[in-house]
Amino acid sequence: MPLTQADISAEISQAREAYLKAVAAGDPVRDHPARDYAPYRSSVLRHPKQPLVSVGDPEAVELSGPVFGVTDVTALDHDLTRQHVGEPHGERITVTGRVLDRAGRPVRGQLVEIWQANASGRYAHQRDDHAAPLDPNFTGVGRCLTNDDGEYQFVTIKPGAYPWRNHVNAWRPAHIHFSLFGTAFTQRLVTQMYFPGDPLLPYDPIVQSVTDDAARQRLVATYDHGLSRPEWSLGYRWDIVLDGPAATWIEEGR
Ligand SMILES: [Fe+2]
Repeated sequence: MPLTQADISAEISQAREAYLKAVAAGDPVRDHPARDYAPYRSSVLRHPKQPLVSVGDPEAVELSGPVFGVTDVTALDHDLTRQHVGEPHGERITVTGRVLDRAGRPVRGQLVEIWQANASGRYAHQRDDHAAPLDPNFTGVGRCLTNDDGEYQFVTIKPGAYPWRNHVNAWRPAHIHFSLFGTAFTQRLVTQMYFPGDPLLPYDPIVQSVTDDAARQRLVATYDHGLSRPEWSLGYRWDIVLDGPAATWIEEGR
């Protein structure tokens, strides 16, 4: 029997109810999804099953980790609409927000990277065989550093929804993938931003793997009319709060 959306939606409801029950019984609120969230089928097979390897000396890890600096990121890297000769198809948008630590302090000089599908819901990647057109003027990757207020900004186009093979008629809501390195490679956060009012949000097991309602809502950007530019683009705002050891950043003068 092919796995249907009704099957997956029933599992999503069960997982959410089990979570709510556990929190009511005293379990902590979970901001992050379980690594083996059953409605997202492949997560059950591929999630890490061994305990994390202790690195001993965290600073030693940095010696072999990636290195980047202000000079590696150019002023054009944040504009995904200007990476080719022509302009990409789609709805031009600005996405901006602040990267903050848990205490609400700005995280400055943070490398923020994004990747996304084009307006038709197709990635410029050889493993994406969705029958939607590629856009020769859109690669779908960008990066920037946060400024002194912890702000990042991207100019891009609104990505399209795309199908995936979790179950029959499975569609990912429009989303932009985000990566934040923190101040050390071992603090990296990878997440996804969604768009308000997307009708696919309740059906998607990746969105719903965040079973806490408030935490899941924080993955959805806000439409901000003040950010929209007349006759040019629509604006979305999305703040990111890092869970990392804020005290370390303060000690380092950030
Ligand atoms: Fe994606």
